[in-house]
Amino acid sequence: MLICIPAVLSKDDVADFRRIMDAAPWEDGRSTAGAQSAMVKRNEQLPPDSEVARKLGHRVLSALTASPRFISAAIPQQIFPPLFNRYVAAGGHHFGLHVDNAVRGDPLTGVRIRTDLSVTLFLSEPDEYDGGELVVEDLYGSHEIKLAAGDLVLYPASSLHLVTPVTRGMRVASFFWLQSMVRDAHARSLIFDLDTSIQALVERLGRDDPETVKLTGIYHNLIRYWAEV
Ligand code: NI
Repeated sequence: MLICIPAVLSKDDVADFRRIMDAAPWEDGRSTAGAQSAMVKRNEQLPPDSEVARKLGHRVLSALTASPRFISAAIPQQIFPPLFNRYVAAGGHHFGLHVDNAVRGDPLTGVRIRTDLSVTLFLSEPDEYDGGELVVEDLYGSHEIKLAAGDLVLYPASSLHLVTPVTRGMRVASFFWLQSMVRDAHARSLIFDLDTSIQALVERLGRDDPETVKLTGIYHNLIRYWAEV
């Protein structure tokens, strides 16, 4: 399931990120790629161990934990330190079809996670560049994703995906992976759908409506049943 979450970062935050990133040194994106993906990856990224990447990564993590919809969709157990990349038209940048590595270790923090979900947080507005669509394949076909700056998409890390060539301008993004407390994607999707419906009922009936209280109990009991913590 693909889940888009709008306005995780404000436009002011995005502008601040871009100012800081424009002044930072970039390196070849293949430094963090696995063997297969290195063959099809052509982009640049902030060095993962650079102070800029770490500081901006912390700001992304703070924004994520303040987003109820993100927490509800991902039920995160551990989030990999966010990375930052850019695709520049002049460089012919793109990222061919690949699957992300199943396990990611961060040498600086010692964090090691199973990658259940991949996340792209867009830091360029769609009109700043042509191409650069994230294309994710699932059971229902191919999905093209290009979101407003500050919005993010969550997709199963197990899916084949690519980024089409950028033919004008520059596509800047943060990307990272997370391990969910609920490993099974189908179970996670049911919990998310239930929570979305409960939030809609709370709007209409209030939080103390007896049936809403019961459904909220079911929500927590499903997490209790499926969560690995
Ligand atoms: Ni990928």
